[in-house]
This record gives sequence, C-alpha cells and structure tokens, in this order.
Amino acid sequence: MPMFKNSRLAFLATLPLLAMSPPALAQSIVGSGVPASTVPNSTKRPISFAAQAPAGAALVILTQSAELPETGALTAAERSAVEAAIASADFKGKKGQTLKLRGIGSHPLIMLAGSTKADDEGPDWRSAAGGAVQKLMKEEAELAVIGAPDAAAMSNAAVGLSLGQYRFDRYQYDVEKAPASQKVTFVGSAANEAQALWNNRHKHLAEGVSFVRDLQSEPASALYPQSFVERTRAAFAGVANVKIEVLDEAAMRKMNMGAIVGVGQGSPRGSRMMIVRYTGGSGAPLALAGKGITFDTGGISIKSNSGMWEMKADMSGAAAVMGAALSLAKSRAPVNIVAVAALAENMPGANAQRPGDVVRTYGGKTIEILSTDAEGRLVLADAVQYVADRYKPFALVDIATLTGSVGRALGDQYAGLFAREDSVADRLMNAAETSGEHLWRLPLHPAYAKAIRSDIADVKNSGVTNAPGASAGAHFIGYFIDKSLPWAHLDIAGVDWIKSSQPLTPKGASGFGVRLLDQLARDWKAE
Ligand code: BES
Ligand code: MN
Ligand code: ZN
Repeated sequence: MPMFKNSRLAFLATLPLLAMSPPALAQSIVGSGVPASTVPNSTKRPISFAAQAPAGAALVILTQSAELPETGALTAAERSAVEAAIASADFKGKKGQTLKLRGIGSHPLIMLAGSTKADDEGPDWRSAAGGAVQKLMKEEAELAVIGAPDAAAMSNAAVGLSLGQYRFDRYQYDVEKAPASQKVTFVGSAANEAQALWNNRHKHLAEGVSFVRDLQSEPASALYPQSFVERTRAAFAGVANVKIEVLDEAAMRKMNMGAIVGVGQGSPRGSRMMIVRYTGGSGAPLALAGKGITFDTGGISIKSNSGMWEMKADMSGAAAVMGAALSLAKSRAPVNIVAVAALAENMPGANAQRPGDVVRTYGGKTIEILSTDAEGRLVLADAVQYVADRYKPFALVDIATLTGSVGRALGDQYAGLFAREDSVADRLMNAAETSGEHLWRLPLHPAYAKAIRSDIADVKNSGVTNAPGASAGAHFIGYFIDKSLPWAHLDIAGVDWIKSSQPLTPKGASGFGVRLLDQLARDWKAE
C-alpha cells in the first residue's frame, strides 16, 4: 500500500469510495461538459435590394428562357457577348440550368440561371436563386442578382438565395478559408417595394427556416430538451406579443402526462413541453404541435446502428412549429397561434420504460407500450390533449417525423398529410402549393383504427397488423383529438433530412414545415 506509508492512515484504503468526498466525475453532469464548439456558423451573404447593380459585382442573371432580360447592368457590347454565349452553349433558361461566363467587360463573372419549370407552371424565382448561389459558394466577389421582374419575384428570389446558401459549419475547426460571405444585392426597378416585402415578411421566413435547420443539425450532445427550450427562448427574446410556457417533468407529472414523461424516463436529460403563444389577431388560435425527440435510439426496443445518427433530427416537427411561430411573430402577422413542442430523449437505461408497460395520458386515456420505438405518438398524445384543453384552438395541426413507412411511400419530395375532413385537407394542400413545400394525402381509413386497440389499455402504440404504418400512427394521434376539432397530421419522416442537395436545401436539414405552416396560419383563421 504505497499511498499510505503512515500506518495510522493505511486503514483508509480499505474504506469504500463512498466514504470519501466524491471526486468531480464527468458523470455527475450531463454529457462530458466539454462543448465541441463555441463559435457560430460562418457568416452568410447579407441580402439587400437596389435599383442599380453595384460596380464590381458578379452578375447573376435569372432568366425565364434563352432570352436575356432587359437590364441596365450590361453595355450593348456586353449584352451581345452574353447573347452569343447563350446561343453557343444552347442555354434554354430551364429551371436548374446555369451558365457561367468570365471575361466579359469588367464583370468578374456573369452567371445565367434558368427559372422556368418544364411543366409550364411559370418561373420559380426561389429555386433559380437558390441553385445559383450554391454554385457560387467560392465566388469572392459580391453578387448582384438581376432578372426578377417585380417586387414579389425579387423578394422570393431572396428567400431562395437565403435558403440555398444555408450551411452548418460551426463544428469545422480545421478549415483554411471561410466560405464566401460578400454581400448580395437584388437589382430591379421595384427595389424599394421588394426591400419592404423582405423586411416585413420574407426575411423572417428565411430566418425561421435557418433557425430550424440549425436545431435539426445540432448533435444530440448539444441539443436536448432543456437546450432546445433555451435556444428557442433566445430566438424569441424581445419579440412582441409572445408568451412562453415551459413544463418540466415535475409539472408534467402533476398533470398526469405519463406518456411524454415515460418516453424520457430512460434519459438523464429531462423531458419538457414548451408552449409559445403569439397573439397578433383576434379569436381562437390555430394550434401547432410538433414531435420533439432530441434523439431516438428506439429505447429498449433499440434501433439497429445503420443510420441511427439521423435520429438527432427526430425533433424536426417541434423545431418546425417553433420556426413558423418565430416567422409569424417577427413579421407581426395578423394571426393567433399556439405552438407546442413535445420534447424528450428516447434512451435505453435502467429506468427506461419497457415494452408491455401501460401509461396514463393527460386526459386519462391509457396506452399500452408495445414498442418503445413508437415514441413520437406518445409524446404527442399528451401534447395535443393539453393544448386543446388549455388553449381552446379552432383547429390543430401536428407535425412529426413519425414513421419510416411514410418515407418509403412518398420519398423526399412529399410529406404525408392525414385529415378526417376534405375541407381541412384542402386548406393544407393550398398552403403547400403556395409555399412550395409539398404534401400528399394518405388515407385514415376506419379499418386501420381497429389496429391500435389494446387488450389491456385503451390503445397500443404499435404491433399493428394489416394496417399501413403511417396511417396507424395518424390514427393513434387522432384517438387523442376530439372529433369536433378540425385536425391534420403531417408525417415528415421522409422530408426532414435531405440526402443530396436541392436548390433550396443543401444536403442535410431541410427545415420542412416552416414555410408551409407560416402560409397556413396566414390563410386559416378562426371564423
Ligand atoms: N423517429 C422514427 C421514425 C423515422 C424513421 C424518422 C426514419 C425518420 C427516419 C420513429 O420514432 C419510429 O421509430 N417509428 C417506427 C414506428 C414503429 C415502431 C411502429 C418505425 O417507423 O419503424
Ligand atoms: Mn422511434
Ligand atoms: Zn422517433
């Protein structure tokens, strides 16, 4: 016993560790306690509007066809040089098509970007600008974007550019050079009007999407229920007409929210329910409820390893409702909404819930847990009952990365839409069309509802036979929503994380739902 040369103290070594004062072990705090990054994402190109292109800017010309739009930014000689290049490169101005030209006049670069869809639906200014900026991530010059014909087109192009240039690089320490962040000016005669539209609405929409993508991209070591709450609170700081309520586990336990607390009981990171209310209009609010699983291991019904890391984005629904609320509140939209995030971390552990357990929900209905991996519907069961009871909304929309099944059915271009009433489905479909975030309606057939009946509780959360997974999940959530409350369910498990870059969505977090729900809230108000 070399530590205790003094024989009078030697007996100390035989005492159990507990008898000594405990050392500050990493395990006594949540995670390692060493933040992986202390810096924000790199600066993006700031956006503004002007009637003239600034001198020395690289020109991005949005076109609707092979024809060059009228612009004062090109001299007659430059214009004919560009036209000659268009002809020789066979540039048609189709959506997604670009042409980079160097060495024309004094312009460091002239890039043409097509905007017209093949199916003749008219130009898509958002995608044209978003696709273009992704091809200019290394361009050191400032940009001038020309060709959008009016204020709405200019401001929409700015939304597209903002979404297209998104990056999540705060964890990249070992880089030699930051990506390009020189400013971008949208140029056109309607610049003042476009600037106002951007300042009053679209800027906040783009920021809402970016906020959501940041939360989705954060690893679960950094983003857990309480840190989700803190980051969301910070985003709403100083925004007018907003009230925030946060329920911790003790508060939820008092209200018998056994489903959400049960999902989080295997994790040392406590569950939370965050409710953000924005009052910008009159009448009952529209309720938006989001699944906020900050990491989904599957719990005791543990998932296989392949692709499990993507489950850090299993809080995409919760982030989307907060992003939409942020956009609506910051733009002072004349609407009332209440957004609720049902936050928990689904972990296995000595105290984790087991298959076969029965939990009681807020309203008293009970659930038999057949799979601890069908946890999204559990946290939402408490959230939708609570928000309907406490806030008396005129309608409720929930949004969740609920089932792998929806992704297999619809891929990454459509989220699944479920609604009892056609009139409700129509409202969602219209908002999808306007916002550019697409939905495909899937069935809520009564036969699939039988599949969730339990032998010992009111319903079971999985183990469903002869019913499509996404429909069974939708029915399960619907079981907790009064038939008199107009309701829609959005399953975004196929669209929340994008595997290869699209013009408005660089590979990774999509921020799906912000634009859709922002539009829906503006269009759908209490009667
Ligand atoms: N978070 C998953 C669904 C998911 C899968 C989202 C893939 C994104 C990509 C969800 O909690 C889940 O595990 N669902 C199960 C449900 C089943 C156990 C009834 C599924 O889809 O397999
Ligand atoms: Mn799961
Ligand atoms: Zn999940």
